[in-house]
Amino acid sequence: MKNELIKYDASKGIFHLNAKNTSYIMQIYEGRYLAHLYWGKKIERYNGAKSLRFVDRIFSANPQSDDRCFSLESTPCEYPAFGNTDFRVPAFQLMFENGTTVTDLRYESHRIAAGKPSLEGLPSTYVEGDEEAQTLEIIMKDSVKPISVVLRYTVFSDFDAISRSAKIINESGEAVRITRAFSVNVDFRDGEFDLLHLAGSWSRERDVLKKPLDMGIYNIESRRGASSHQQNPFIALMRKNAGEFNGEVYGFSFVYSGNFLAQVEVDQFHSTRVGMGINPFNFSWLLNDGESFQAPEVVMVYSESGLNAMSSTYHDLYRKRLCRGLYRDRVRPVLINNWEATYFDFDKDKILDIAKKAKPLGIELMVLDDGWFGKRNDDCSSLGDWYVNEDKLEGGLGALGREIESLDMAFGLWFEPEMVSPDSDLYREHPDWCLHVPGRPRSEGRNQLILDLSRPEVCDRIFDMMKEVLSSAPVSYVKWDMNRHMTEVGSTALPAERQQETAHRYMLGLYGLMERITTEFPEILFESCSGGGGRFDPGMLYYMPQTWTSDDTDAVERLKIQYGTSLVYPVSSMGAHVSAVPNHQVHRETSLKMRGDVAMAGNFGYELDITKMPRYELDEVRDQVSSYKEIRELVQFGDFYRLLSPFEGNDTAWIFVSKDKREAVFFYYKIQARAHEPFKSVRLAGLDENLEYELLDAGVAFGGDELMHIGLNIPELKGDYQSYTVRLRVK
Ligand code: DGJ
Repeated sequence: MKNELIKYDASKGIFHLNAKNTSYIMQIYEGRYLAHLYWGKKIERYNGAKSLRFVDRIFSANPQSDDRCFSLESTPCEYPAFGNTDFRVPAFQLMFENGTTVTDLRYESHRIAAGKPSLEGLPSTYVEGDEEAQTLEIIMKDSVKPISVVLRYTVFSDFDAISRSAKIINESGEAVRITRAFSVNVDFRDGEFDLLHLAGSWSRERDVLKKPLDMGIYNIESRRGASSHQQNPFIALMRKNAGEFNGEVYGFSFVYSGNFLAQVEVDQFHSTRVGMGINPFNFSWLLNDGESFQAPEVVMVYSESGLNAMSSTYHDLYRKRLCRGLYRDRVRPVLINNWEATYFDFDKDKILDIAKKAKPLGIELMVLDDGWFGKRNDDCSSLGDWYVNEDKLEGGLGALGREIESLDMAFGLWFEPEMVSPDSDLYREHPDWCLHVPGRPRSEGRNQLILDLSRPEVCDRIFDMMKEVLSSAPVSYVKWDMNRHMTEVGSTALPAERQQETAHRYMLGLYGLMERITTEFPEILFESCSGGGGRFDPGMLYYMPQTWTSDDTDAVERLKIQYGTSLVYPVSSMGAHVSAVPNHQVHRETSLKMRGDVAMAGNFGYELDITKMPRYELDEVRDQVSSYKEIRELVQFGDFYRLLSPFEGNDTAWIFVSKDKREAVFFYYKIQARAHEPFKSVRLAGLDENLEYELLDAGVAFGGDELMHIGLNIPELKGDYQSYTVRLRVK
């Protein structure tokens, strides 16, 4: 261990956790209550500043009859239970066999260990050596019944991140029902924050929204059975003066892909409680005596210098210690996908034509999207029938894959494994294998139902079918799609008292299935997708290192989507494609250059009918692909800085800087042209003030200090939807 990351002062009952530049401090108060003292910039020695304070408050209740000043209501709590003097929203609630719901969690013991254990069956950040982190487990026990909660805190030595989770253990001799089990609770001692979250819709994912907090409750949540397009499982509390490069920011990111709740409560004393975890809405879990329940992980990131530094921590941590597999550190191939080129209307010749046209342009991977299986010629049938449609693809996937390989291109394939079409052999064979409530209609979405992944036999069947397909052809990339949300959430395999476990059991089944498939095929690059970015979350990134960012491929819309996504997720995780104009989602016309420059700020690819492009456009594509290959390492693995926000003005800018700061690539985009435009310059970020950078192809050089503090001139860009990019290299 480089240094001690977690210290415990037994005389004062104080836990002092130190991440890279961050401290998190707690205290066992009165020998039993676990109170939160501080989270923020690193403190070397803690001698009790801003210690807990209590006064006799009218209408507060007191757990100790001899002390009218002490109340949990005015105690910053680490993991509040329900029913004894804290009237704020609890992190934890149970129902006992007698119908009562009161618990009283008290400190019991703790242990500190090197490293970070994994969360069984759940995605989580990890370490590659015990020296990378320390983990504190605090065991809290109910004062009446032997029910414990193990609060786990991991502090990373190289990141300003602390991960937390909670595990509930029932040794009470009776079955209890968990009705709320947040993964995290943090009580800040004031309410001077703005709340930032990422909200949107299909094709409009992750708009950056910010609102001032005031007394009341704010819920950011999904009840849709997936993390969703509508709200991302992430929030940040920002100090009022905080921006991209200044001010304190506290990020909370939930490593989970299903229903979640991020709840912020500003109470009567203007303290702020943040809770995050599985959404208690329509959730309960029956925990028998001797069983335990593990709540997923939340990754908390503190930044003293604004959002950009917070994002940078998430990017590095998620890229290096959440994503796994061969492609974690490997540059991603430039791909072409046939979806917007053909939709369902293709055959083997068409796919090969696209591949043959793409190969000489430098494109490396041909992805065959929806429509290759069963008898699927539109979205009305065949999900679940994962065998090739030979009417469309003569000779099967093996023949197609081999022909693509013979072009020296890799071959990729689309699946939607979690779904079943009512018009499918699988459904006819197993009509009870979908989520449904007997006796009630089964609502379809995109003409499909959701398979009940809470059932192991369903997961096994999907695994077997996928394995057979993936073993039958040289597939080196899989796009794992998911195109509807849950309705009539119920499982016929579960007893009445466990119906409210279905949605979470589904997620556990899904995670298990993805673990098996990705382990079975370690050479395959997996990209997750849910109607675009409807499940762009850390849970999915644990299994699949990239996600299709959005079905909206319009360059202008993509600026917002990629900007918002970058708040939490690394650029290496964002699929970004050039598509045709007029754009299929918003019908806008933008230049090929603009479309290319936007997509190059992600995992680059094309999604249009390249066989119909005129020669001069193909030449431009060839140039784009070759330019991207020169910068892709920088884009995918460098440091990313947002410079101008598409949510705040007519232009957007960002820069990628190599870890050694010797290389960078800057992108600027303008939306609307205006008459008599003012001159524009942009201050860069992330460079070394003391180094001199040459602007490649421009024949000029400037100091890093000039570029960051004075700025870089943007040349005159005539017309709407223009972009300007420049590479910088230390002279
Ligand atoms: C939704 C995805 O986001 C699209 O890219 C495409 O794969 C379609 N599904 C296919 O049905």
